[in-house]
Amino acid sequence: MSTWAVLVAAGRGERLGGDRPKAFAALRGRPLLAESLERLDASGWIDAIVVVAPEGWEEPSILVAEELGCGKVLATVTGGPSRAESVRIGVAEADGEVAAIVVHDAARPLLPEAVLEGVLRALGEGWDGAVPGLPVADTIKRVEREQVVETLPRAELVAVQTPQAFVAPVLRDALAGDVAAANDCASLVEARGGRVTVVPGDSRLLKVTKPEDLALVETWLAAEAQ
Ligand code: CTP
Ligand code: MG
Repeated sequence: MSTWAVLVAAGRGERLGGDRPKAFAALRGRPLLAESLERLDASGWIDAIVVVAPEGWEEPSILVAEELGCGKVLATVTGGPSRAESVRIGVAEADGEVAAIVVHDAARPLLPEAVLEGVLRALGEGWDGAVPGLPVADTIKRVEREQVVETLPRAELVAVQTPQAFVAPVLRDALAGDVAAANDCASLVEARGGRVTVVPGDSRLLKVTKPEDLALVETWLAAEAQ
């Protein structure tokens, strides 16, 4: 029973700015993509990896994997116009026998092994999907045309990250329909009645969105290297 990881790296990184896709933004002298790829390759929980690359950046993506010696990368494919389309393209590369699929954002470079273990153990316990989540520190309000219409009960809210793990056929079914409006893979599975659980996330799984996020992750990496 094997577990495949789909590393989605095909976004443009518009909010980060810069002259290249976010996956190739420099992080301590290496492309951002290298961090999560290296961690997935080293993980005892992952058997094979599909990299979903930005259009025109397939060759550089293959080179990153080769230079790192990431032998688990079995395919590198070109992404689609949205994250969900990119996931669908990546998942299509996983062979039919695969038991579980983990989807991870290349934009979250620091990937703790304990979180991979957490989401995959949950599948072993019978869940269709598992996502890492953190409690929400701020009060969240729903606003319509400048007016607050609802204050959400904070105790019930979690901020969800990746890696997200799914029983392979469940994820394939969820991706078969219209994915245009999807937030994350888990929401597609939930919408079809799949049972998804939340396991402890990690603040280091911060998604690099803006330049200041890159700077913050860089300081964490520097601290780890000491
Ligand atoms: N992603 C992808 N294909 C897309 C869009 C996003 O593979 N068409 C990936 C990104 O590469 C990233 C993850 O999905 O690893 C989360 O997306 P996000 O943080 O929004 O990255 P970008 O879309 O690149 O950034 P922006 O929205 O600022 O352009
Ligand atoms: Mg985006």
